Amino acid sequence: MTTLILENITKQFGHYCAAQEISFSVDKGEFVTLLGPSGCGKSTLLKMIAGFLQPDSGKIVLNGKCLNNVPPEKRNTAMCFQSYALFPHLNVAHNICFGLKQRGLSSKEQQPRLLEALKQVDLEHHRLKMPAQLSGGQQQRVALARAMITRPDVVLFDEPLSNLDAKLRESVRFEIKELQRQYQLASIYVTHDQTEALAMSDKIVVLNSGHIAQIGSPEDIYYRPKNRFVADFIGAANIHKAHITPSDQLSYYFVSCELGEFYVKSPTPPTAEYCYICWRPEDAQYIAEPTSNYNLFALTLQKMAFLGNLTEAWGSNDSNSISVRLQLIKRPQADIGSRVYFHLPEEAIHFLEPISEVEHELAQ
Ligand SMILES: Nc1ncnc2c1ncn2[C@@H]1O[C@H](COP(=O)(O)OP(=O)(O)OP(=O)(O)O)[C@@H](O)[C@H]1O
Ligand SMILES: [Mg+2]
Repeated sequence: MTTLILENITKQFGHYCAAQEISFSVDKGEFVTLLGPSGCGKSTLLKMIAGFLQPDSGKIVLNGKCLNNVPPEKRNTAMCFQSYALFPHLNVAHNICFGLKQRGLSSKEQQPRLLEALKQVDLEHHRLKMPAQLSGGQQQRVALARAMITRPDVVLFDEPLSNLDAKLRESVRFEIKELQRQYQLASIYVTHDQTEALAMSDKIVVLNSGHIAQIGSPEDIYYRPKNRFVADFIGAANIHKAHITPSDQLSYYFVSCELGEFYVKSPTPPTAEYCYICWRPEDAQYIAEPTSNYNLFALTLQKMAFLGNLTEAWGSNDSNSISVRLQLIKRPQADIGSRVYFHLPEEAIHFLEPISEVEHELAQ
């Protein structure tokens, strides 16, 4: 069932390690996204899978066969780039059929596939146009059709939407997903856009400076980040150093941090007695008139931004001069500078990595 496996892939450029022991797999029909900041090694990984770069060590296995010594043209992979990379001297139809021609299919064999592909990307009326006569979105759809028409085992997308405007991105994003689902293609999609990654992926591989920071479903990555890098890179997060003690009740803990004391329910235990914790801005509930102190923290409101469906707010805690970010469904009826109260539900706090001894000592 598994289509592609990367096993301990390492690639060094001079002193910089662009890929460090990278292992993950992509099943047939699975949409896997490589997400991470610029320079973290996303394109390097795609190039190694496509065969344009050789790993220093590790194995790339496609349908049970090791690809390491297989040249790019013999790997059944297709690549779709940010700069559509269409052949300027070929019209839309010829661009789309390029891979079929290379594989030796006759014009007669190419025709039905071409018609189907043109229909899928809604370019039937543009088949005779040259790339220069198309808009950016149309060019990207030609590139998409060209990548998919050969029915590759794996499609590799390198930031294919980053040249498109926001509206077009959304519609091409749906087209990519629909084509991928229809043909049950194993896909690896590179982006540094977290929204795109969350919306499209079955699995996200978060990369940081050449190594894997976390692998998981979009829900895992967003709701159960494993470390500060993931928590901070995907969505907004409030991160604090904390002291954690288990309670008498299974899966419940006492957490003490700069915001106060909290009772936390977590199916996974903390990584250490002293570790980082995080919570999402939307998890804090504004309490107009608190009736108990339970899981409550108080802040002095610093600024508020009304965004229609929600309000973003920042506040500080006087004793520790910290600032937290909140996302409130209801705008607090309070002025800047006034004291407001928020409740953090028991399941809102997540445990991240341990605080290193050095950091711990510095904080004392
Ligand atoms: N051929 C090369 N020679 C030397 N260094 C390289 C080479 N290719 C990439 N690098 C370096 O490896 C690192 C990873 O590059 P890569 O292109 O994979 O990043 P990326 O995650 O795709 O970034 P971006 O989001 O900006 O496209 C970068 O520091 C880059 O400078
Ligand atoms: Mg790149």
